[in-house]
Formats: sequence, C-alpha cells, structure tokens
Amino acid sequence: MHAPSDFRSDTVTQPSPAMREAMATALVGDDVLDGDPTVRRLEESAAAWLGKERALYVPSGTMANQVALGAWTRAGDEILVQRFSHVTTFEAGAPGYLHGLQSMTVGGVEGDMDADEVRASLRPDFIHCPKTALVCMEQTHNYAGGRVLPMEQIAAVTGVARERDIPTHLDGARLANAVVASGTPATAWTAHFDSVSLCFSKGLGAPVGSVVAGPADFIERGMLVRKRLGGWMRQAGHLAAAAQLALDTGVERLGQDHALAKDLAARLAAVDGLQADPDTVDTNIAMVHVTRAGLDAATVATALGEHGIQVFPMGEFRLRFVTHLGLGPADVDRLVAAANLVLGA
Ligand SMILES: Cc1ncc(COP(=O)(O)O)c(C=O)c1O
Repeated sequence: MHAPSDFRSDTVTQPSPAMREAMATALVGDDVLDGDPTVRRLEESAAAWLGKERALYVPSGTMANQVALGAWTRAGDEILVQRFSHVTTFEAGAPGYLHGLQSMTVGGVEGDMDADEVRASLRPDFIHCPKTALVCMEQTHNYAGGRVLPMEQIAAVTGVARERDIPTHLDGARLANAVVASGTPATAWTAHFDSVSLCFSKGLGAPVGSVVAGPADFIERGMLVRKRLGGWMRQAGHLAAAAQLALDTGVERLGQDHALAKDLAARLAAVDGLQADPDTVDTNIAMVHVTRAGLDAATVATALGEHGIQVFPMGEFRLRFVTHLGLGPADVDRLVAAANLVLGA
C-alpha cells in the first residue's frame, strides 16, 4: 500500500540521509553550562542571514515568538497584531497565559494590516489604557494562505510603530518562502523590524528548531524568557546541525514547493465543487474552497483521507494544502484523481 500523500503541513517532512548524518556526527557541548559549538555556529549564521546582531536557538516557532513577546513587554501591556496571526490564533493564548499581555487585533482574513488602522489602534499615553508595547506582523502569512505581504505595507505599518518608539516583531516562521517567492533577501524584509523569528522545521526540512533574532540586549532578555520556558537545551547541537543544513541547502529548493502548490490550485480549480485560484498562491500553501452545496471542508477532508490524501480544513468551507519536500507531481496527480472521485466527476 502506498503511504498517504500528506498535504497537512510542511512540518511533516523526514530528515534526509545527509541531515541524519550531520545530526549524528555534530560536535556538541552542554549549551547551558559551557555552550554548544554547533548551536553557536547556527545562531551566528542565522543572525547573519536575518541581518540581526544576535540569534537564539529555541525548540519551536511558538517559543521563538513567545520569547520575543516576553523580551519586549511587561505584564499588563498590549500587543497589536493581525486578527488571524499565528500569535493570537494558534499559540493557545500564550501571550496572556505566559506574559500577562492582551492583544488588540486589526485587519481581516487576507493578512493585511492597514497603517491607518494601526495608528488609530495605538493606545494613548493615558493611565486608564494599557501600553501598546509591540506591533507584530507575519511573513509569509499562514492563515492568508502563505501570502507574501507587500514591502510597502510592512514599511508603512512598522513606520507608524517607529514614530511612537514601539518595537516591532516579525513572525518569520516561513520568511524563507517569502525570500524565494519575492527574490528579495531576508535582510530587506527584516530591516523593518526590531526582532524576527524563523523556523527550520517547516519548508526548510529540519525536524526541530527555530531562532529568534534581534539586537544583543533583546537577546539577553530573551535568554531569560527561554530559560523560564524551559527551552534552553543541553547537547542541542545534534538538533542545530539539522537546522544548519536546512539553512545552508534548503532555501532555494522552496521554489519547487511553490510551483507545486500553484499547479495543485490550478488543477483543483477545474474540479466541479471546488474553487481555487492559482494567482493567489504566492508560496507553498494553497487554499481551496468547497463550493458544492451540502458539503463542508471537514467532510471533504475525511473523504480525501479514504483515498490516501491527508489535508486540514481551515475554516468551514476552506481546505489548506501545503507542499513540501516530501511531495512531488505524482502526489498532485493522486490528489486530483481523489478529488474527482470524492466530488463525483
Ligand atoms: C506563521 C507561524 N508562526 C509560528 C508557527 C509556530 O511554529 P511551531 O509549530 O514550531 O511552534 C507556525 C507553525 O505553523 C506558523 O505557521
């Protein structure tokens, strides 16, 4: 039996033989006691790639974002984020639970943040109000279907924050996808932000790990937050070695995932009962809408599962297909055949 074609997430990839070899043979030390040389090398190269003074290795993208929130804010503060951002939608209430923060959200499903709306949402310096302590954006935008937000929007929103001396954080879990899709280097995107997170365990193909990067004093505060979250690991070089290989060799390959996602959207658009638009596929995520009366996304996902296709519903009538290094054109052929069977073509 054929293994299922897994379109649920780009986090499902298996490490390549070369990655397993790099992990097994990595030079390691106790990162908490003496430092781990492989972690240090990764932090230095990630900081350089992101154009920031320092970077900190953490186990997950969620922790990378939460370290940033903890390092920039104090309990009782407010953060300003896009309504369907990962930080407020998929981090299980961590800003409030971990740091005593409340979130003000702006914008809609497409991931956009409007600079005028942001300006109007910043709290005045008034004893009755929380302090707006951080403005946070996301690139690429997960909920908006891997969308690459335009540079002008990023410049405008972060410019408003800067006018008020409010720090800015970029959830760059999939920033490498934006770099490849736009042809614009990471440093040009991150120059607008004080801090940025980046995941190695998504399209880049490592099994574990993320970094959060920013100025040295932010990283010093972030180290304390990471310690409190239990994210300071010992011989973590075995994991960092995989992340290093992902950063060194995984970025350019993302273009293949993007082409596959566009192709998938174009072909599913032709299936009666589904609606998709390849022109809205910027990177490795394709959002496909179920338009057949009487069917919803969860029902279609279950039915596709019976034909060897794994996919997540994201919304009542929306399916999120994510491409990655474990998928190729044959998986898209299989998906299209399954979709035709499920929708009765
Ligand atoms: C935009 C974004 N930020 C952060 C994360 C969190 O990453 P992790 O699952 O490693 O905690 C994700 C995960 O999908 C994401 O899509």
